[in-house]
Amino acid sequence: MNIPFLDLKTQFREIEGEVLPMVKEAMENAAFIGGPQVSGFETEFAAFCESKYCVGVNSGTDSLRFALMAAGIGPGDEVITVPHTFIATSEAISQVGAKPVFVDILPDTYNMNASKIQRAIGPKTKAVIPVHIYGQPADMDSILEIAKKKNLVVIEDACQAHGSLYKGKKAGSMGSVGCFSFYPGKNLGAYGEGGAVVTQSEDIANKIRMIRDHGQAKKYFHDMEGYNGRLDAIQAGVLRIKLRRLPAWNEARRRNAQYYNESLSPIKGVTVPTEADGCHHVYHLYVILVDNRDGLQKYLNDKGVGTGLHYPVPLHLQKAYAYKGYKEGDFPVTESVAKRLLSLPMFPELTKAQIEYVAECIKQFMAKK
Ligand SMILES: Cc1ncc(COP(=O)(O)O)c(C=O)c1O
Repeated sequence: MNIPFLDLKTQFREIEGEVLPMVKEAMENAAFIGGPQVSGFETEFAAFCESKYCVGVNSGTDSLRFALMAAGIGPGDEVITVPHTFIATSEAISQVGAKPVFVDILPDTYNMNASKIQRAIGPKTKAVIPVHIYGQPADMDSILEIAKKKNLVVIEDACQAHGSLYKGKKAGSMGSVGCFSFYPGKNLGAYGEGGAVVTQSEDIANKIRMIRDHGQAKKYFHDMEGYNGRLDAIQAGVLRIKLRRLPAWNEARRRNAQYYNESLSPIKGVTVPTEADGCHHVYHLYVILVDNRDGLQKYLNDKGVGTGLHYPVPLHLQKAYAYKGYKEGDFPVTESVAKRLLSLPMFPELTKAQIEYVAECIKQFMAKK
């Protein structure tokens, strides 16, 4: 059997009857930037995220960068986040001129360990960015509580968590701003680059609308310098078509995670994902931990099973951050998880038979040890 890590082609066949006429209409109307598709998507995604406002931007990275700028964070400020995330989270902090400060993660959910925040707070700390890693919200009650006490802005990196819930609340709706990526492989993915911020604050939404469009509230009247960071109309049209199916697709991911859990939990040496109490995980990624991760990855590859590593080198040990002087041992949970993690095929259209095949291959490998 050949099982890709991600299959976007099957999903396209399901929606092509809607996507292709939408693209044709955009071309015929020469409506590419802004317009009703973008505003329509923003209204629908804000409602989906139980947030008052949504502003479409060019990528998840832009959403984080613009959220930080709108919060007034810049040179001299420090922002707390985790080393177990995609580099875009910390890049955004550095790119507004602030300094990323890392705290370790929890060993069961791989999300920010809120009990580590206090010690990382200094006089320059202005914000905290929890990352809802793999599709499961971080421990938001604890993070919001400490942020409130210390007057910190909370920006949710929900780039992997479209539609996930924390105690009934939508990811992205709990902090000052929620940031989303629509990179094609995400649970809600565009057919190109895309991102969005959601917020309950009209002021923040207005600021980000200006930042994404060269600092102009009115054409050619620039109140500030901004960026070319807009979501384009064709991507917004694709996202509207996909958003209608997202709840069902997330449920399919959850069902697939359940099949994996049932097959893999009995295998000695395999740690399956944990869904924390009160969390509704949407399994952007289904990540297991095993000691001989490289061996298993190679074995699965030989058996036709695609896998991924999210992420094999923690941020504090990346060359890009060598100047910060972090060393091995600084964030032991992150480091231990990074050595053992393996992302298995996960997408809504994955079949039970495919999952059983992956699980059978893992069982064979673990029995050989
Ligand atoms: C946790 C996290 N943050 C930020 C991003 C950046 O999103 P984008 O690739 O759309 O810029 C991603 C996407 O890969 C992500 O997974």
